[in-house]
Amino acid sequence: MSTVKLTVNGKAVAVDVEDRTLLVQLLRDTLNLTGTHVGCDTSQCGACVVHMDGKAVKSCTMLAGQADGANITTIEGIAKGDELHPMQAAFRDNHGLQCGYCTPGMIMSAIDIVHRHGGDLDETTVRQELEGNICRCTGYHNIVKAVLDAAGRMKVSQAAE
Ligand code: FES
Ligand code: FES
Repeated sequence: MSTVKLTVNGKAVAVDVEDRTLLVQLLRDTLNLTGTHVGCDTSQCGACVVHMDGKAVKSCTMLAGQADGANITTIEGIAKGDELHPMQAAFRDNHGLQCGYCTPGMIMSAIDIVHRHGGDLDETTVRQELEGNICRCTGYHNIVKAVLDAAGRMKVSQAAE
């Protein structure tokens, strides 16, 4: 057992965890942030993606202890009050989901993709970059459209900041 201190969605937390506890278990089971999903547990599907210090990570592949001192953002932390994050709004507007199970991880990966590539993304790049996120429902067409749409929206909102 050890105490892990981290910031989650802007709030400082300190929790006692077993050494084998995964980051996704800490988020879901201890902090009740159940928007982060588990789809495979083997680092393939991307349903568990969160941001650690601003970068997308698979939270089923990390021990909670490895996140000690880190800044974690989950899907619950990206909207500003009632205002959806541009990526969330783009997924809604482009109907980039069916059952929605993969959506939190898709959105967290997609935000990181836009941060790394800027607003100049093309379809091929988005498809390559989303290889670590599996959607079992929709096919990727609307998801890719949503990411490209959001890249434009995020460029506009960053320029306005
Ligand atoms: S649950 Fe983490 S990659 Fe599938
Ligand atoms: S929308 Fe159902 S798994 Fe992607």
